[in-house]
Amino acid sequence: MRYHDRWTAARIARTEDLTPSIRLFELEPAGGAIRYAPGAHLRVKVRVDGREEVRSYSLLDTGVDDGRYRIAVKRIDDGLGGSRYLRTLAAGDEIVVSQPHNQFELGAQAVSRTLVAGGVGITALLGMARALAGGSRPVRFHYAVRTQDEAAFAGLLRGWLGDRFELHVSGQGGRLDLRRVVADMDPQGELYVCGPIGMLEAARQAWKEAGRPASLLRFESFAASGHHPNRAFTAVLPRFGLEIEVPAHQSLLGALEQAGIPVLSDCLRGECGLCAVDVLGCDSALDHRDVFMSEAQKAGNRRLCACVSRPAGGRIEIDTGYRGRRLDAAGLDGGSAAARPAS
Ligand code: FES
Repeated sequence: MRYHDRWTAARIARTEDLTPSIRLFELEPAGGAIRYAPGAHLRVKVRVDGREEVRSYSLLDTGVDDGRYRIAVKRIDDGLGGSRYLRTLAAGDEIVVSQPHNQFELGAQAVSRTLVAGGVGITALLGMARALAGGSRPVRFHYAVRTQDEAAFAGLLRGWLGDRFELHVSGQGGRLDLRRVVADMDPQGELYVCGPIGMLEAARQAWKEAGRPASLLRFESFAASGHHPNRAFTAVLPRFGLEIEVPAHQSLLGALEQAGIPVLSDCLRGECGLCAVDVLGCDSALDHRDVFMSEAQKAGNRRLCACVSRPAGGRIEIDTGYRGRRLDAAGLDGGSAAARPAS
């Protein structure tokens, strides 16, 4: 149960492999592109195992330059299938996209800004870097990758920012030190971070240790990153008398929706908290991949953001916050999640 999406057909005008694993898609939406601010993302309908699902991808530009949306998608072989689907498409094919959404906008009042990207997290920060590069307020950009050939857009960033841009290649001993990054910042500077969940947690920790105000730290996640690999598990819903088998390549939210269980959701990126379900019990570790809950809430393991987080396997017993009745699953888009009466 999502809100605010207006879906439009979009033609894939061009693709380009930016790195061995990251592919650029240029999209021409019917009726033209809608203006957006840096940090915005687009929702894209994908097909996974015959099911229609929705994924979010950051928009790369500072706004609309030429009527196209640009996204860059990293191939994740053991992910939830969105990137695998998109890589089956080519120029001339059509997909369905939403209007741009933005929960990661630049603050207008910042005295200075530091941007930190990890891996494909660069996509959320690229437009910001371009917008800030010619401005009067100080900006620094740190970009962490494992290997040099994964550093998509590094040449562009160096051109825009010069020595305000720093590339950290961990495979060459250049590991990013987030404590140093924070220590070097202006006391009133803003920090923007987009990367895997481990980087976001390290940034939060460094920020807290430095006694910085939480209001000056902004971050965005990408849903594929977790502490455990994606494994199949069983979701038990006592209130509905149901057990649902959730495959390794489907989110808990997707499986619940497919089984006709109403769950509120919005961002699909672990940011808004709308999709959080109550955890009544679990026989494996919970892999919290959201950036909505605090570390204390995650440690308590009483709630789980169903769009991105999941147990590491086994069985989890949950209750959904939304008290609506179960919908007719037969009326939903077909798929493979198996729901059966709880034993
Ligand atoms: S839909 Fe926003 S956190 Fe899940």
